[in-house]
Amino acid sequence: MRRKLVAGNWKMNGSLSMADMLISELLPSLVSHQTVQRIDVMLCPPAPYLYSLARQLAGSGVKVGGQTLSEHAAGAFTGEISAQMLCDVGASAVLVGHSERRALFGETNACVAEKFAAAQRQGLLPVLCVGETLQEREADRTWPVVQEQLDAVVSRCGEQAFAAAVIAYEPVWAIGTGVTATPAQAQAVHAQIRAYLRSLDAGSADGVVLLYGGSVKADNAAALFGCPDIDGGLIGGASLEAGQFLAICDAAAGYAD
Ligand code: PGA
Repeated sequence: MRRKLVAGNWKMNGSLSMADMLISELLPSLVSHQTVQRIDVMLCPPAPYLYSLARQLAGSGVKVGGQTLSEHAAGAFTGEISAQMLCDVGASAVLVGHSERRALFGETNACVAEKFAAAQRQGLLPVLCVGETLQEREADRTWPVVQEQLDAVVSRCGEQAFAAAVIAYEPVWAIGTGVTATPAQAQAVHAQIRAYLRSLDAGSADGVVLLYGGSVKADNAAALFGCPDIDGGLIGGASLEAGQFLAICDAAAGYAD
């Protein structure tokens, strides 16, 4: 019913030649294994590489997304990138509120909600990232933290906000650490998110794609993606290695038949 999605977040890594090389390794395999017919695949490169990547991937079925965007439409905001600009260069989605943006660039829940709204206004699919720190988990605050992150978007965009969005649950303690949430830990939060979505908008909740992110690798992807409310992954480090990323896509495609 829900299509699996595997999204690669390259963060601030690579170069133009690395991007070209990665695509030349990924594309033939994604096409010959018919992966793109069975699941959605998306790549989120650094902004300067978006245009060239989108052109190379045009017609392949692989989607391209931004890593962040401005909440503003246009104007004197030096260094910022608008939703319209992302669309212009071929992006169809954008990450919003990644934990690194929240922790390192001061993005508050309210600011993330504005960015989410800006993406949707432009017809970009927002991939809203939520998740708790280790300290919050240990204090038994995982759900209140995640709910607050979701609620900020709901109060800005309404109870149907997630009907045209993806949510990525990414426990901060699992991002880039090599420590992955167990399938049971991840599924528990995903189920809470789904139940919460149902309470907001029963009509759309079962169709919302919920990704898990945080040290997803080729050897743990299948167990995570086999959980009933985990619809794929947001992949950081492992998306920079063609073999790893392809194996993760194959793990998701294994549940598509
Ligand atoms: P990681 O990153 O896979 O390297 O843990 C995930 C993310 O930040 O989205």
